[in-house]
Amino acid sequence: MAFYTQHIRRGFCSSAVRSLAIKHVTIIGSGQMGAGIAQVAASTGHTVTLVDTSDDILKKAVKGIEGSLKRVVKKKFADKPEAGEEFIQKVLKNVSTSTDDGAAVQSTDLVLEAIVENLKIKQDLFGRLDKMAPAHTIFASNTSSLRISDIASSTSRLDKFGGLHFFNPVPMMKLVEVVATSATSQETFDSLLNFSKVLGKTSVSCKDTPGFIVNRLLVPYTMEAIRLHERGHGSKEDIDIAMKLGAGYPMGPFELSDYVGLDVIKFIMDGWNALEPDNPLFAQSELLNKLVAQGKFGRKTGEGFYKYK
Ligand SMILES: NC(=O)c1ccc[n+]([C@@H]2O[C@H](COP(=O)([O-])OP(=O)(O)OC[C@H]3O[C@@H](n4cnc5c(N)ncnc54)[C@H](O)[C@@H]3O)[C@@H](O)[C@H]2O)c1
Repeated sequence: MAFYTQHIRRGFCSSAVRSLAIKHVTIIGSGQMGAGIAQVAASTGHTVTLVDTSDDILKKAVKGIEGSLKRVVKKKFADKPEAGEEFIQKVLKNVSTSTDDGAAVQSTDLVLEAIVENLKIKQDLFGRLDKMAPAHTIFASNTSSLRISDIASSTSRLDKFGGLHFFNPVPMMKLVEVVATSATSQETFDSLLNFSKVLGKTSVSCKDTPGFIVNRLLVPYTMEAIRLHERGHGSKEDIDIAMKLGAGYPMGPFELSDYVGLDVIKFIMDGWNALEPDNPLFAQSELLNKLVAQGKFGRKTGEGFYKYK
């Protein structure tokens, strides 16, 4: 416990402990999160290798980054379109792609994982990469709901392993949760804090508990909104309006669930329910289970609590 406190306290003040300046990042997984992190890292002068399982997926990811950069540039370089185009080309030049994760980690400062939310698959990946990456390389996971120490257990670099939890969409969302396990060294933790700062993000220091800060509060809240509706306390629409106008939230809990993905929420809740079956905050919802079984995952499938075109 004291160890965590030490990390957390140091996270908010400048520390005398040396930290590694991260120049090159290898990002494993080029989906929503991996591509977003790659865009931000490349835009802030890092060289990035983006890794996924096929060239087609990687091509799509790079196209997505280019599209997102065009939107950024439209605002940022409104009066200077040529400078905007130059910026896009400079950023894209910082991004290379690979389907060979072993080769992609052979000369890198940070391996940041953003693949499927599955403990065994993450452990296998890191266990393999641990044997191929240089000794100085820091490993970090972007997991939303798993314990970092459980993922790190497949490696022999426990002191060089931490969590970097970004939020979707990464270029827009300012927060990064930086997570230290009981084995993460101060140098690694400071390096991850510094990296987040260089990316232009605000970081908070978190204990290695499932959900860290944001999801640990947000997921039970959305689940309670669903259960409130199931108990007949209000329509989805009224609960959403109530939380937007009464609590000042930008989205209501049903809109937010559709945005995040009902499959993702169910996956997180099932995992936490298995860890703490008696905790009423993690109780099942019949309605959520039904929608997920019907493949209604929210915005990404065109229907969840609401229908989307
Ligand atoms: N989506 C969110 O809002 C969000 C927010 C914060 C954190 N996360 C976490 O980030 C991670 C990724 O989420 P996402 O939404 O980007 O998922 P996603 O499904 O959009 O992308 C995952 C990518 O990883 C690739 N992949 C899977 N296994 C791989 C492997 N072994 N090697 C290389 N690539 C592999 C897939 O092909 C896919 O492109 C998850 O752990 C998730 O919990 C998600």
